[in-house]
Amino acid sequence: MTFDFDKLDELARAGSRLKIGKLFENGNRFADFSASDDGILLDFSKTHLTEESRSALLSMIDRAGVAAARDAMFAGEKINRTEGRAVLHTALRAGSDAVISVDGADVMPEVRQTLARMAALTEAVRSGTYAGQGGAFTDIVNIGIGGSDLGPAMAVQALAPYHDGPRCHFVSNVDGAHLADVLKLLDPARTLVIVASKTFTTIETMTNAASARAWMAKSVNDPARQFVALSSSVERAEAFGIPAERVFGFEDWVGGRYSMWGPIGLSLMIAIGADCFDEMLSGARAMDHHFRNAPFAENLPVLLAMVGLWHHQGMGHATRAVIPYDQRLARLPAYLQQLEMESNGKGVAMSGASLERPASPVVWGEPGTNGQHAFFQLLHQGQQVVPVEFLIAAEGHEPEMAHHHRLLVANCLAQSQALMKGRSLDEARRIVAGRFEGEELEMQARQREFTGNRPSVTIAYDKLTPYRLGQIVALYEHRVFVEGVVCGINSFDQWGVELGKELATALQPVVEGRASTEGLDSSTAGLASYLRT
Ligand code: F6P
Repeated sequence: MTFDFDKLDELARAGSRLKIGKLFENGNRFADFSASDDGILLDFSKTHLTEESRSALLSMIDRAGVAAARDAMFAGEKINRTEGRAVLHTALRAGSDAVISVDGADVMPEVRQTLARMAALTEAVRSGTYAGQGGAFTDIVNIGIGGSDLGPAMAVQALAPYHDGPRCHFVSNVDGAHLADVLKLLDPARTLVIVASKTFTTIETMTNAASARAWMAKSVNDPARQFVALSSSVERAEAFGIPAERVFGFEDWVGGRYSMWGPIGLSLMIAIGADCFDEMLSGARAMDHHFRNAPFAENLPVLLAMVGLWHHQGMGHATRAVIPYDQRLARLPAYLQQLEMESNGKGVAMSGASLERPASPVVWGEPGTNGQHAFFQLLHQGQQVVPVEFLIAAEGHEPEMAHHHRLLVANCLAQSQALMKGRSLDEARRIVAGRFEGEELEMQARQREFTGNRPSVTIAYDKLTPYRLGQIVALYEHRVFVEGVVCGINSFDQWGVELGKELATALQPVVEGRASTEGLDSSTAGLASYLRT
């Protein structure tokens, strides 16, 4: 049940000797190395994968036990062993007739009841029957961090064309600048604050929530009435002053970074309405169904994971750029950073043994075309190879600006083409001939040479609807899952964030001047002394 990394190395060594452009001499390359399902197309033809390496990789993924692990996850088994928890974010979108048990009890009635309560609150906010002291809510402030922020923040922006509810703002950073800059725009009497924290202990969120309440208390008689909590801990939310009827709970089998499908998505639901939210859930559900049922050779999450493993563990490319040619997906790279790097950024296998190679690449990105005018220089000519994942819709939401969209598409395709094709030194020489000669010509030509042969994949879809967004996010969730299984890790804990939290708690009195710097390393002590106010 282990993945054969030696075989992967062997395949990758052979792959790296190939030219991607040459592989296209097989006229069917695109048809052979792309897959689609229900409106989503994954093109992985612009990679070094061949028939042989793909089929070997797919059988290796199969032998690593991915299907059994997947089935265990969907069945509610406690696959998050270090925390003794099931992993059932898929239950949040499982639909009205699903039955899913944890410890012998069907969890779905409660999931459905919570969704219905969210829909009722959504309707009340949008219709104004639940209003602030100054009238119907004009603004929602979601206070949360990590998984309690990135999902809804990303999705609210992604689904802007469907946004017909109050404005939404997201405050995450404990830096007071974040909260202050948002609150100064708002009327407290018409603002609803959503405190989103699974644990309801996260220091950033608790600090921001307390400051937001103090801000509201200056002009609103009963600020708690304009607060809602999204948390697994009803008790802590109540202790903060938010009554149970406005607390939307979820179980410990929903990981923070997988939580936008339930209560943590409340700001999104209020923004776009319960029906659109439900469409997003349907899209994710469709991807779940596909992941569970499609043969691996056609299974989009498995194929995307295969490409990820090929580039990162096989070819040794340390980072992966995600470039949505979709301005509204501007926060997707940040969302995926948490999803992938908090899930798989680990050094130890489930067995406790050290991993032989990193399980997660560094994930980063920005929307195209902006990135083209910033870091694409390195993508094309830098010494390191960065596999790119492009996302692009066939159609925008602005028919009156369809020519913009055509430009966007042309740019997206041009980038993957340029990465693959490059430009030879001879071509570069021809370009500069006539303007330069001799050594100067040679030097000028070298600057204009592109090695090419740089891999990318493209995820294309018709239009960024709620349904498509649900599919895309679930696609990435399952890709991360497959990569985690192959690497033998638990993708659902995050012990790596704990140490910094503990040390911050210990340093707080030092920074506040209530404790001395004695015993600290001289760097930390020196900086703390300098930064004390
Ligand atoms: O610090 C990491 C983390 O635990 C994430 O996994 C989580 O999404 C985030 O903090 C926020 O946690 P909470 O929702 O409990 O405030």
